[in-house]
Amino acid sequence: MNLMKKMLAVPAAVLALWAVTAQATTDEAIAERLKPVGEVCVMGQECKGVGTVAASAGGGARTPDDIIAKHCGACHTPGILGAPKIGDTAAWKERADSQGGLDGILAKAISGINAMPPKGTCADCSDDELRAAIQKMSGL
Ligand code: HEC
Repeated sequence: MNLMKKMLAVPAAVLALWAVTAQATTDEAIAERLKPVGEVCVMGQECKGVGTVAASAGGGARTPDDIIAKHCGACHTPGILGAPKIGDTAAWKERADSQGGLDGILAKAISGINAMPPKGTCADCSDDELRAAIQKMSGL
């Protein structure tokens, strides 16, 4: 009988501990846990999170040089995988001429073409930023 009492005491203690922990869970703590993990950013609308990151990273807008250095140069500086080289205006012009001008190659840069990844890996680049980077690389 003594042993039986001991055996019952252990689960009782566990239960008591659990009850205390549960009590410590306030409404605020629950609200905190129910908060969404991230915020959804809709294209075309201002996104606070992204804005803060960009502002703290560069202290303002990115220049075409920033984008090229970070995203495009890896392939377009050496001209690997058939990428037109930075400054090789003739190569860029040939492409532009056969695809309806700067807008044509911009569209390809956005969608991606062969070994060229969509947006040249700059997923958060706007069309204008990509256009400026292309103009800078091509001299067009
Ligand atoms: C992973 C390598 C890679 C990166 C990074 C990259 N490119 Fe390219 N890009 C290529 C290759 C390869 C081609 C040639 C594709 C083909 O015609 O087969 C190309 C072609 C292009 C073209 C011409 C498209 C056409 O229609 O002929 C443009 C414009 C362009 N890139 C812009 C960019 C911009 C802007 C960036 C940076 C934001 C960038 N690229 C980053 C590899 C890359």
